[in-house]
Amino acid sequence: MRWRNRVAFACVAALLLTLPAPGPAREADMPLQMEVETGEEGGGVPLVALTFDDGPRAATTGPLLDGLALREVPATFFLVGNRVPGNEELVRRMVREGHQVGVHTYEHAILAGLSRRDFDLQVGKTRAVLTQVLGEGDFWLRPPYGIADDGVARWAESPLVLWSVDPEDWKDQDVDRIVAAVVEHVEDGDIILMHDIYHTSVEAALRVVDTLLNRGYCFVTVEQLMEQRQVEPEDGAVCRRCPPPAKN
Ligand code: NI
Repeated sequence: MRWRNRVAFACVAALLLTLPAPGPAREADMPLQMEVETGEEGGGVPLVALTFDDGPRAATTGPLLDGLALREVPATFFLVGNRVPGNEELVRRMVREGHQVGVHTYEHAILAGLSRRDFDLQVGKTRAVLTQVLGEGDFWLRPPYGIADDGVARWAESPLVLWSVDPEDWKDQDVDRIVAAVVEHVEDGDIILMHDIYHTSVEAALRVVDTLLNRGYCFVTVEQLMEQRQVEPEDGAVCRRCPPPAKN
């Protein structure tokens, strides 16, 4: 399943530009979605993966999911295990709406230097919680702060998903600055780091989505990004971005 030669995925892309002026009926009956065949080379369409850490948080993750659903844009959520109880329906909704769900430890702990037992209490325990809510899954790992060591790589049982664009959305929670920090630097194949626990990050993320859709970008999950760029997901391997194949 992981290695399909051709993958069709939804992309709103520039189609939005050609639609009539937005009206109240748009969400229900307008064909927003366009199928994009990227071909076996996976080249052509610029791809970007939007990722969110530290949630779920109902007050902010809910509106974010609403905004992503309206745009038919998938994202990747790295969840903190102890935030899942009470938010199970939100987590099920993520998967139902095409998002990828991963692990960001149980207590937002730094994983480097932990014993095997403590590592399992952070990562294995979160995977167990997610399996209870979602059923069996891979649940890739993003180590908090991007800090990992040999033990983390050895025990991860998934790729270590880091990022290539970091607007530091937690720092000043200034929407204009966050949007600019992403859209002025993003390139084909980037992985964008944001946090779905701030209202300002939700607003900024949706503005980023609208801007990049208008530029012709296609949003994919991290797993789809690696698949499209033919990067084999290997346990313990760090993934920061998946650039397009070099042109001859
Ligand atoms: Ni974090």
